Amino acid sequence: MLRLVNVNSNYGLVRVLKNVSMHVGEGETVTLIGANGAGKTTTLRTISGLHPVKEGRIYFQDRDITGWPAERLVELGIAHVPEGRQIFSPMSVHDNLELGGHLVYKHYGRKRLKLEIDQMLDLFPVLRQRRGQYAGTLSGGEQQMLAIAMALMSGPRMLLLDEPSMGLAPMIIRDIFARIARLQQERKLTVLLIEQNAKAALNISDRGYVMETGRILLEEEAGALLANPEVKRAYLGREQREVWE
Ligand SMILES: Nc1ncnc2c1ncn2[C@@H]1O[C@H](COP(=O)(O)OP(=O)(O)OP(=O)(O)O)[C@@H](O)[C@H]1O
Ligand SMILES: [Mg+2]
Repeated sequence: MLRLVNVNSNYGLVRVLKNVSMHVGEGETVTLIGANGAGKTTTLRTISGLHPVKEGRIYFQDRDITGWPAERLVELGIAHVPEGRQIFSPMSVHDNLELGGHLVYKHYGRKRLKLEIDQMLDLFPVLRQRRGQYAGTLSGGEQQMLAIAMALMSGPRMLLLDEPSMGLAPMIIRDIFARIARLQQERKLTVLLIEQNAKAALNISDRGYVMETGRILLEEEAGALLANPEVKRAYLGREQREVWE
């Protein structure tokens, strides 16, 4: 469904992504793991059109989307939940969802938009309880749910998630991952996930890639990565243990 072929990307003169090739099949959940500064966020931003491709190609459903603007990629079905929960704090939960659904409104009108918001509130009951509340006053976990719900409002086929568990308590992390797994099954979503909590992420994934200083070092089935001693040593030791106990 998504394929990167030898993608290079820079910040100024500094090369950040170095011949990155990877793919995510339809209906797959794939995790990208790597140390801080490896280039994971840049990879997602490059896929979603927020950062330019210097060299290489990106294909989505066999269409060459290299260089497409972010807005067009959203219309095509790629939704990106950026690092750090980018919601609109001074707006209510409901209004944030409406904003996330601007394409639904544009193409299908207000009635359909209301229906979609209602569906999203069914999917995330905690947001229904808080739909009139300012988004900025939600808890961290609730804000992450809202960020994911906003992305889903564009009716994506593929979801790009950048560290959904960042800064959350273990119990909330478990809940978020369970929801991502359910979404993937119920909505037939294809998911590309970045996570520091590599173990939790690999547990809901089919495959994973390991990235180091802008290069893909390793690609394996999730189970094989979890069992790989090198990966264990470098990436799986730093988890908040309580997520698993
Ligand atoms: N706007 C920017 N300008 C210049 N350099 C940047 C910019 N954003 C990121 N970088 C650099 O690019 C490299 C990759 O950053 P990136 O954010 O993609 O890493 P990451 O793997 O997502 O890290 P983390 O796990 O800390 O989120 C880092 O060395 C970073 O300092
Ligand atoms: Mg990052």
